Amino acid sequence: MTEKTWRKRTLGGKPLRPETLMMGYGYDPALSEGSLKPPLFSTSTFVFKSAEDGKNFFAALQGRRPLGPNEEPGLVYSRFNNPNLEVLEDRLAIWDHAESALAFASGMAAISTVLWAYLRPGDVVLQSQPIYGGAETLIDKILSEFGIRQVGFFVEDGVEAMREAAEQAKNLGRVGMIYIETPANPTNGLVDIAAARALSEELATSDGRRPPVVVDNTMLGPVFSSPLDHGGDIVVTSLTKYVGGHSDLIAGGASGSKAMMLPVRRMRSTLGAMLDPHTAWLLMRSLETLKLRMEASARGALRVAEFLRDHPKIDNVWFLDFLPKDHPDRPVHERQNQSAGSTFSFEVAGGEKEAFALLDRLQVIKLAVSLGGTETLASHPAAMTHSGMPAPELKKLGITPALIRISIGVEDPDDLILDLKQALEGV
Ligand SMILES: Cc1ncc(COP(=O)(O)O)c(C=O)c1O
Repeated sequence: MTEKTWRKRTLGGKPLRPETLMMGYGYDPALSEGSLKPPLFSTSTFVFKSAEDGKNFFAALQGRRPLGPNEEPGLVYSRFNNPNLEVLEDRLAIWDHAESALAFASGMAAISTVLWAYLRPGDVVLQSQPIYGGAETLIDKILSEFGIRQVGFFVEDGVEAMREAAEQAKNLGRVGMIYIETPANPTNGLVDIAAARALSEELATSDGRRPPVVVDNTMLGPVFSSPLDHGGDIVVTSLTKYVGGHSDLIAGGASGSKAMMLPVRRMRSTLGAMLDPHTAWLLMRSLETLKLRMEASARGALRVAEFLRDHPKIDNVWFLDFLPKDHPDRPVHERQNQSAGSTFSFEVAGGEKEAFALLDRLQVIKLAVSLGGTETLASHPAAMTHSGMPAPELKKLGITPALIRISIGVEDPDDLILDLKQALEGV
């Protein structure tokens, strides 16, 4: 294998697909004794060949020496870079359709670092609601102590609500960021990314500063949604979910243009929020099967959603492909998403008692929070993940006591249906 091959993204002028590139892109076996797979570089630091090299590597890292198009900054210290991290990041960038990707110790580490990199005291964050609880706490409870304010809009209320919230935000200060999560957890409400981008252009200040559009793409992951293609500036993902895919690691990613990612990279190096080499190595295995797993889960999810939709003890199924033709989210779903994915919610006829009865009777499906793993997980948002939210907000978002969230894994969907069927008999 030559250097050309491991850097090549096309063959005969045709682009190679991400699932093909996951087997080798970014890794040169010749640099590691011919090892087919990247070894684990479990080291904190790297030996320089010369003092001059050390000087040059630091100059590149700190931005004093511009890099050539194919030049790497050189390995210095594993808080800044590491071969496992670099190969993983090259591959994550492919999935995210990005110039540059960075890997973090968790989804929250990715989100926090992006926010710390871009927001300053006096700024206002324009934010969709609901977003993941950890991100909500960070913006609402922690950033507010640093003079950064938040103005939210409910995803269910559409683009008009986003625009009205922007007016309110402008009156409070400079809009420093538009932060959105789409589809929103747990009811799969959608935010129109292109509309958020158009708004961000309108909010640009006279000095040319435009609030970046940051999109949390955890729920569909990079196989089924590419927020950067629709106007997002930075996409953040909890790699703990679909990308890791086996419920056995915690990691996060952020991707965007090289220019957008530079302040994030510097902030990550300072905070020390990077991913460790071993988890990066595990994630490279995950990436090889990402598309296979996501497609299998989505096929299974459709079967399970159809079963639930037709069951007399189930009232509503919030599955994206079931959106009525005249629903305002329908065109957004068709434009923005390649699939309904495999995490969705449904309401059991009754309330909390009936929902708990169903959850407690499940035998194959596990009762646990989180999503995107090979195994199917079910949970009760109102009593668990969203229990910190005030009751009126829960009601507004449709997070009722009867609501159950389910993340379909790669089991045989007939077995999952069998399990739900027997559990529903006892409700
Ligand atoms: C949509 C979303 N974003 C971000 C996160 C945070 O990710 P992590 O748990 O990897 O920090 C989660 C975790 O559940 C999530 O569901």
